[in-house]
Amino acid sequence: MSSEEIYLNYKGLMFPKETHSLESLEFAQEFKFKDEDVMAVVYPKSGTIWMQEILPLLLNGGDLTPIHTIPNWDRVPWLEEKRLALLVDKMASPRAMVTHFPYQLMPPSFHTSKAKVIYVMRNPKDILVSSYYFHKMAAFLEDPRTFDEFVDTFLEGKVLFGKWTDHVKGWKSAELGNRLMYITYEEMVQDLPAALRQMSDFLGRNLSEDTIQKIAEHCSFKTMKTNKMSNFSLVPKMYMDADKSPFLRKGVLGDWKNHFNSEQLAKFTSAIRKDLDSESFSLPWNLD
Ligand code: A3P
Repeated sequence: MSSEEIYLNYKGLMFPKETHSLESLEFAQEFKFKDEDVMAVVYPKSGTIWMQEILPLLLNGGDLTPIHTIPNWDRVPWLEEKRLALLVDKMASPRAMVTHFPYQLMPPSFHTSKAKVIYVMRNPKDILVSSYYFHKMAAFLEDPRTFDEFVDTFLEGKVLFGKWTDHVKGWKSAELGNRLMYITYEEMVQDLPAALRQMSDFLGRNLSEDTIQKIAEHCSFKTMKTNKMSNFSLVPKMYMDADKSPFLRKGVLGDWKNHFNSEQLAKFTSAIRKDLDSESFSLPWNLD
């Protein structure tokens, strides 16, 4: 299939047609945010599914029912995907959603609401590796070709939701005051209970230590990998083929070291620095 058959172009960005339509993207633009809504904003392959596990548990005080009975895509739907229109009337308050949207695509009602936002960032080199394997296993995405070619595709921003640098820059300069908290995938891997405490405080939940520990256990990579409501095993193999690469693939920091050669690393680092204009922008990772 050609790129045009696989992706929809909307406001200059690429969206997979399998899960997005012009209607769904317009529905997102007209979506009416409520003050009590909670959003996780995540550039693809930075921990979206993880947040779909975490948010309901933080919001409901650790009741496992939603993560054991509702597939992640209906439990915490994507703002931009087709499913939202089917679910929105049934969503209980506080509604939890995720989005991959860059800041400039957030709908007008988002800006006037008090909805809270957790922006999750991940080392872009690990995003690239994760994305490469995702493109291999997901039939609704273009084949990534070789890793070397995919490095260029990623740096040129010819990937879902555009350039990583644009996404981060947009959300890092978002003027949302105390409605917005930033967290990194790295912090979450290194100390999940600490990350959960931060998120719980931000959401005004103040959960007990026992509850935090329980949530951390159920949101660990190991547990999520066996949760059929979260590991995409409910999706037919013709769409997502776990034999090619499981969705919950490795869940570690620094897998890029097993993939980048020195040339790719130099190219990647210099392109990201240039795009970020890193004189004025400090990253939580060492890109070298
Ligand atoms: P890897 O491919 O590096 O393993 P997204 O949900 O945004 O598509 O991101 C997917 C990435 O998040 C995958 O990374 C996946 O394994 C990782 N991930 C999902 N749940 C996780 C968890 N509980 N702990 C660590 N990583 C997790």
